[in-house]
Amino acid sequence: MAVLATKQEDPKRTVYYGTFIHTPSPTLLEVKHNCAVGVDVDSRIAFIEECPNATAIPLVANLHAWDAFDTVISDELSPGRSNFFFPGLIDTHTHASQYPNAGIFGNSTLLDWLNTYTFPLEGSFSSLDRAKHVYNRVVHRSLSHGTTAAAYYATVHVSATNLLADVCQARGQRALVGRVCMDRMSPETYRDESTESALRDTQACIDHCASIDPSGSLIRPVITPRFAPSCTVATLNALGELHQRTKHFVQTHISENHSEIELVKELFPKAKDYASVYDDAGLLSERTILAHAVHLTKDEIDLVGKRGTGVSHCPTSNTCITSGEAPVRKLLEAGIPVGLGTDVSGGYSPSILDMARHALLVSRHIAMREGPAVKLDISEALYLATMGGAKVMGLEGVVGKFEIGMEFDAMLVGLAHCQSDNGPEEASGENSEAVDVNDGPVDVFGWESWEDRVAKWVYGGDDRNVKRERSYFVLQLAWEPTIGRKADGVLAHCILADFNILCFDCSRVASCGTRPSWRDCALGIDYSLPGNVAIMEFLPRGCIGKSSKGDANLSWTFR
Ligand code: GUN
Ligand code: FE
Repeated sequence: MAVLATKQEDPKRTVYYGTFIHTPSPTLLEVKHNCAVGVDVDSRIAFIEECPNATAIPLVANLHAWDAFDTVISDELSPGRSNFFFPGLIDTHTHASQYPNAGIFGNSTLLDWLNTYTFPLEGSFSSLDRAKHVYNRVVHRSLSHGTTAAAYYATVHVSATNLLADVCQARGQRALVGRVCMDRMSPETYRDESTESALRDTQACIDHCASIDPSGSLIRPVITPRFAPSCTVATLNALGELHQRTKHFVQTHISENHSEIELVKELFPKAKDYASVYDDAGLLSERTILAHAVHLTKDEIDLVGKRGTGVSHCPTSNTCITSGEAPVRKLLEAGIPVGLGTDVSGGYSPSILDMARHALLVSRHIAMREGPAVKLDISEALYLATMGGAKVMGLEGVVGKFEIGMEFDAMLVGLAHCQSDNGPEEASGENSEAVDVNDGPVDVFGWESWEDRVAKWVYGGDDRNVKRERSYFVLQLAWEPTIGRKADGVLAHCILADFNILCFDCSRVASCGTRPSWRDCALGIDYSLPGNVAIMEFLPRGCIGKSSKGDANLSWTFR
């Protein structure tokens, strides 16, 4: 029986058991084996206990007066022992609307890239059909890489932006969703008509977010002046006033490219520098996310640090459109919170694991000029991908590490094992050399330390290493059965073929495990019941699955 099975209508407590890895500080990669983490019905971590083996889980849970709960055991999901729970990754800067252009940037640099590739694509989101298609795909793709929280730019279009908020909520991804404000320097057909209309349309998106998630526990609006050159002083001032008054987050770009910086000097002759343009408008605070910050001066770094403003480091984008190398070490030393951003489609990849890798590589390029002290190490890169991102997005103390009281946004990482059952030294013969591409590109031989396994994952891993928990945990987080779904209790039909689950009807269940006994089985998930996943059943072919409610209408047959 699958470890995720549950038969109760009410949300259930769950104990996750196995190896947990996180970076509670930039210099600490903490690895805890034989660890039982109790997650309560509100998704918060209730306890973290050492537990010698899986059979002792009930004893540990009983210490906390838990008698009924589900269990998810990392090592049961695939053979070998290089599975570990890791905090969900956080993308602090990306453009959902630009996703179709991922990889398409040629030899352009920022300003010509915007005109050639970006504005034409973004302008097409006046079509809600297009928005629906793209936004569903990009949010799903982002989740599939283990990203459980993201700060999104949409476009200027109110309806499409609101749809992005709906999609994030329906798919269970924590998000800041921003309607782009720009009232100059883009095609006339794709810009705000005036400061007043920019404010009005921004407010409409803020109101929509409040209507679908009044507490903002999952979806929050973000005030989004595209960047200084796109906005008149009047618009920047109005958005700054809105920020000061409402305390909603702000996101924008800063100092990405030399031509952009020159343009800002021309357009804002009275401002001391680029950062001051935003500061003068009241847009810099500890609730502001500045993407890039590649070429900030010392004065600007001091100002950003003084305001407590966070920076989204986007190493892939900065390389792709040849913007430069952000001085991450300098920013960190100035006390600036730093997270990672994919910046699709300046960057080509929606994966924050890729960003961690590229942040490591870019820091090494800087080190070739400035010396080894600027190099980031694995724990720092993972810290930026989780804790740093949480701080930048206002989620500090909420997600980013495994700690009692924090919410359990997490994924299960699995690495391919190529050792024999008898131990690493005895691996030989055909089986140890057979490659199952679905296990992902990282091969563990068994003799590596856990720190080395994590390093192999960071440098070589991809979405195939994110096991099914990316869906399951997200469902656990904030599942609203009536939003974006048929509310009539439709079951997802999934089959296991060649040891992998292929999903019909349900895009949220990732490939899962490699248990031979799961072959020719069906997985049923009942989305109709309140409070998260209600049923996950594995049944032999031909069986009829039933809802735990016993409602005949909810039964289904695995064909
Ligand atoms: N500056 C203004 N707009 C953009 C954008 O869409 N992407 C990037 N990378 N920089 C910008
Ligand atoms: Fe960007």
